[in-house]
Amino acid sequence: MMSPATSLMPDSPAPQRVVFVDDDPALREANSQTLELAGMDVTALPNARAALDLLTADFSGVVVTDVRMPGIDGLQLFRALHERDPDLPVILVTGHGDIGMAVEAMRQGAYDFIPKPYPADRLLATVRNALDKRRLVLENRQLKQLANDAGASLPLIGDTAVMQRLRRTVRHLADADVDVLIEGETGTGKEVVATALHQWSSRRREHAFVAVNCGALPEAVIESELFGHEPGAFTGAQRKRVGRIEHANKGTLFLDEIESMPVMLQVKLLRVLEAREVSPLGTNDVRPVDLRVVAATKVDLSDPAQRGDFREDLFHRLNVVTLRLPPLRERRDDVGLLFSYFLSRAAARFKMPVPDVSDGVRAYLRAHRWPGNVRELAHFAERVALGLAEEGMEGSRTRPDHTGDAGATLPQRMERYEATLIRDALATYRGDVRATLQALGIPRKTFYDKLQRHGIDRAAFELPGD
Ligand SMILES: Nc1ncnc2c1ncn2[C@@H]1O[C@H](COP(=O)(O)OP(=O)(O)OP(=O)(O)O)[C@@H](O)[C@H]1O
Ligand SMILES: [Mg+2]
Repeated sequence: MMSPATSLMPDSPAPQRVVFVDDDPALREANSQTLELAGMDVTALPNARAALDLLTADFSGVVVTDVRMPGIDGLQLFRALHERDPDLPVILVTGHGDIGMAVEAMRQGAYDFIPKPYPADRLLATVRNALDKRRLVLENRQLKQLANDAGASLPLIGDTAVMQRLRRTVRHLADADVDVLIEGETGTGKEVVATALHQWSSRRREHAFVAVNCGALPEAVIESELFGHEPGAFTGAQRKRVGRIEHANKGTLFLDEIESMPVMLQVKLLRVLEAREVSPLGTNDVRPVDLRVVAATKVDLSDPAQRGDFREDLFHRLNVVTLRLPPLRERRDDVGLLFSYFLSRAAARFKMPVPDVSDGVRAYLRAHRWPGNVRELAHFAERVALGLAEEGMEGSRTRPDHTGDAGATLPQRMERYEATLIRDALATYRGDVRATLQALGIPRKTFYDKLQRHGIDRAAFELPGD
């Protein structure tokens, strides 16, 4: 997955806007001319009232005002504008004897003062500096806004303490440019966190988020996929190929399922992480890369038993910062919130009204263990939105911990429990036979026999648009 670079800044520089306030028409005229000749976009106003009517908190330029004016004077104007936007630069033009007062105004946040009379250069220099500062302030605001928007479109939902802490940590780490290892069961949100680390960082502005699934790519392909190659580097390499690592330059490289990275490539990857350079196959070129690497794993790589042939040195290199995503069953208090979110999102997507949540659905939400974690919950919400949930839940009413079991014999209860487990797995994997078989650990034939015996319709678990 590659997201296109988004640029914050327009190609041509923003107009340099200056509001100049003076009650003296001759001075207004002369100063406007000076500023205009320097390429600025000037609005000359005869009094403070007019300035207050015009200026809003996000005004993109700066204000220059005479201090001594009838009605609202320059100092009062500064204070009123400072209220609206404490970062708006206001430059005071002071007459003889106003210096003490102007110094006091600067202490309160006025940008500068210029004592009269002054050469044109003095005015221009101050205004230019103030405009630069203004631009920076507004860019920063825009960035914050974008980060918030990104946060909204990339939710990391959850009110439990553990999720609140995680969100804070992710925001914190986003800009720290440190490599991050994310560990968590399937469906706990590892990719959401990886994306958030990118979206909330300054890297998001310029460059790509490049995801590589180390488990899904065949071993023979993954090397050239990651590192790239020159024509003729190996049989079949007709054209040059830029590797994903280079593609991610200046952006974020997301190495998903890092635990399945072939051993031979782990050494090469370690070198990239340490030296921050990549050498495509078939070249002696060494190209520097500037990356943030985020890796995800479903297993605990610190445990030698789970790590298998994953290299310890690579683990330590990746393990600078590790974020652990708890399984959903360890943050049960978030189930309701997440469910409501997914339900209304699904209803909107299917253009259906948000349905009332039945007691059966509520009970299921409480009782189920969610082995597929948030993903399973999201799929369940989609089935509820489509009115397909009751069937998949049927078995849950007869779970061992359910009162409906009273009176049934043990074999009957085992039968029902089996049906529930099969339905759960089908729901998690949306009817995908291979994944369901793998999750259940039974042969295909046994699976189909059981479907028939329990009267389960596998196809009902497939979702439109999947
Ligand atoms: N905290 C959360 N708030 C909102 N949506 C979430 C959250 N966590 C996960 N999701 C959603 O759940 C689904 C699964 O999340 P994600 O793909 O990040 O899981 P994963 O840990 O990468 O799983 P896998 O190991 O199977 O790849 C996605 O649709 C994601 O948007
Ligand atoms: Mg994932």
